[in-house]
Amino acid sequence: MTDDAWTWSYEGYDPAGERLREALCTLGNGYFATRGAAPEATADDFHYPGTYAAGCYDRLTSKVAGREVENEDLVNLPNWLPFRFRTRPEAGRPAPPWWSTADPGLLEYRQSLDIRGGTLSRELHLEDAAGRRLRVRQQRLVHMGDAHLAVLRTSFTAEGWAGELEIEAELDATVTNGGVDRYRDLRGRHLEAVETGYAPDGIAWVCCATRSSGITVAMAARLRSSSTGTCGPSAEPCAKEGPRSSCRVAQRLVVPLLPGAAVHVDKTVALFTSRDRGIGAPRLAAVDAVSRAPHFSELLASHRRAWKHLWERTVLDVPGLSGRVLRLHLFHVLQTLSPHSVGIDAGVPARGLHGEAYRGHVFWDELFVLPYLNLHLPEVSRAMLSYRHRRLPAACRNAEDAGFAGAMYPWQSASDGREESPALHLNPRSRRWLPDRSHLQRHVGSAVAYNLWRYAEATGDLEFLHTQGAEMLLRIARFWSSTAAFDPDRERYRIRGVVGPDEYHDAYPDSDRAGIDDNAYTNATASWVLSRALELARALPQPRRDHLFADMALDEEELRRWEDVSRRLLIPFHENVISQFDGYEALTEFGWDRYRARYGDVRRLDRILEAEGDTVNRYRASKQADVLMLGYLFPPRELSEVFRRLGYVVDDDMWDRTVDYYLSRTSHGSTLSGLVHGWILARERRPEAWRYTHEALWGDVADLQGGTTHEGIHLGAMGGTLDLVQRGLTGLEIHDGTLHLDPAPLTELSDYGFSIRFRGHWGITFRLCGDTLEVGLPAAERGPLRVGLRDEVITVHPGETRTLDLS
Ligand code: BGC
Repeated sequence: MTDDAWTWSYEGYDPAGERLREALCTLGNGYFATRGAAPEATADDFHYPGTYAAGCYDRLTSKVAGREVENEDLVNLPNWLPFRFRTRPEAGRPAPPWWSTADPGLLEYRQSLDIRGGTLSRELHLEDAAGRRLRVRQQRLVHMGDAHLAVLRTSFTAEGWAGELEIEAELDATVTNGGVDRYRDLRGRHLEAVETGYAPDGIAWVCCATRSSGITVAMAARLRSSSTGTCGPSAEPCAKEGPRSSCRVAQRLVVPLLPGAAVHVDKTVALFTSRDRGIGAPRLAAVDAVSRAPHFSELLASHRRAWKHLWERTVLDVPGLSGRVLRLHLFHVLQTLSPHSVGIDAGVPARGLHGEAYRGHVFWDELFVLPYLNLHLPEVSRAMLSYRHRRLPAACRNAEDAGFAGAMYPWQSASDGREESPALHLNPRSRRWLPDRSHLQRHVGSAVAYNLWRYAEATGDLEFLHTQGAEMLLRIARFWSSTAAFDPDRERYRIRGVVGPDEYHDAYPDSDRAGIDDNAYTNATASWVLSRALELARALPQPRRDHLFADMALDEEELRRWEDVSRRLLIPFHENVISQFDGYEALTEFGWDRYRARYGDVRRLDRILEAEGDTVNRYRASKQADVLMLGYLFPPRELSEVFRRLGYVVDDDMWDRTVDYYLSRTSHGSTLSGLVHGWILARERRPEAWRYTHEALWGDVADLQGGTTHEGIHLGAMGGTLDLVQRGLTGLEIHDGTLHLDPAPLTELSDYGFSIRFRGHWGITFRLCGDTLEVGLPAAERGPLRVGLRDEVITVHPGETRTLDLS
């Protein structure tokens, strides 16, 4: 692959597009991430520097719409980027302004992300008022090997002149959480008790604490120049003035420039928090780490080596533009969830560590990310499941408080596992604060269960399944059983008052009661969870089974109820299709054409209608895949088994009708929607599949969701597109411990390769090409691999590549 295929670049400076670039050029390592903001810029209408550490949250209470609301945010940590420069004033002359991107002397500007090496570069060509030209190259990294380190190198080359350059670098703890316009009325100042200081060797530090979670955060920065290969002059402390200047610590450096000779200035930074293990105090750890940090070239080499190892575990060779976008997606997934995540108590943040949308919360989006990671970095998947396991007691309390048994995972989760969904949300169109009922998305529990089941299938990790896994799965099953009430008239169990994946329906029209009843997705996945829990309860080895049953006070009678509920939950139908929920058929058809003609983009139909004084609850209109999610989660064999168990016949014709029905009634107001539709249409070998897949691929890079990517990437859609290529288009499934394939490539994505790790095999390779599929095992593998292709099972030996005919 050429270097170009690994580069993501932007020509020219475009203030209006800057925040989007910042999100897409974020650098991170699973421990922390920093947006790709310009080092000379502070937060303003165009720029939003942000640094976030996985799992570092803080809670504040604000007053909106006359109500007190509490929100927990992923905290924006001190900004380590600030770095500015100007040519040194001549004696007796006023100092020229610090250079900024708004400067008319900006002759050229280029920004590029080296995806393979994990660095972000900027190249600037500048001319000052005196006509002196300067080339500036900036390169930064957030170290993938040593998760606490980051570096910003700036190289200056004077073109045909000599003089001095004045440089100022800073650590800024005046930052707040202010990156999302919709949250502007909410409090965002999370950092307090700020202390700053200097240490020997040109080091400055800042130490502060989060307001209510009391996490100590420390950063130290070493500023050094190297003009001639040896160390240049040292940085001097420099006092800051102005509001809250005590929360900023700065250093100045004067470097001589000679014509044509590059001078490098390195700002090396270390970040530690009191959540870290294996340290004494964060400040000491940060100062120590930065003073010992090697030279830039060494840091760059070790950083690239760490990335190289990651790329070897996630080989993905898709040609063309789609391949570039997929590599960018993989890059951001790995920057959010890396081997460093294993030692951190944090979940899968829906918007990455790339911005403040959804406050860094954890939703069900791991459903779209972990199946991909299971086959590459299973230890990371396991860590994400352990995040859920540590919050099992909280999930049990959530259930109890709502009057149920078992474990009810929250729709939005953050530090301690309580429900973090906001009580109110703002419709930016009407500027009205509205009640938020999204916490009724109880189906998140099924996502947790599904993920742990798929993880165990992919890894064969029975140790996890029988311990943490069983503790979660059995309690989630108990929750579903406790929410299901038998309705003698319908002779079925019903789960009422919920919200399905489609958030546009959170109540019946003209009803005061929150939620809808018998959401098909919720009920079908609840039945699946109950069946898996029964299967696991039978398979648990002794004495583990007895111990767990005793701890849970679980007995045969309860298992009998689970069996009964799993077979008799209600799935509603109308017009020969599966209904999204009971009573769906009574809703009014929506005037899609009229609204499209009027508004163009109707993805956020809920906001449009509310601003008009109407409500989307009245219409047959969905935000995203809901019933159709079932076809995403379950391959046909498993899906028919789900319905068969429930006593319903859903044949191919009915499923096709259901797909058509909802396809024409969905606004795709979530990036997850294009992905799911692309997946299921591809599996059905339908030509429209590419349209939706394309939308999923371009969702973030082209900012298709009405300009939301600048507030953070959509990690679910990014991880999901990787999995679409890996499992969706190849039909890769694991059952009975064997890999099975049933490829359904898209014309636009039919020639590509990738490798996976599956149980003891670390590098199984696949290549789809026209009507053939190659499966290979490296010679270094220890044993053969059995692979099922449609109805046949073949054996691939180490060092062998088998070519299978798909025609
Ligand atoms: C979607 C949810 C998703 C959440 C976070 C919402 O817009 O409707 O399904 O979990 O975003 O990504």
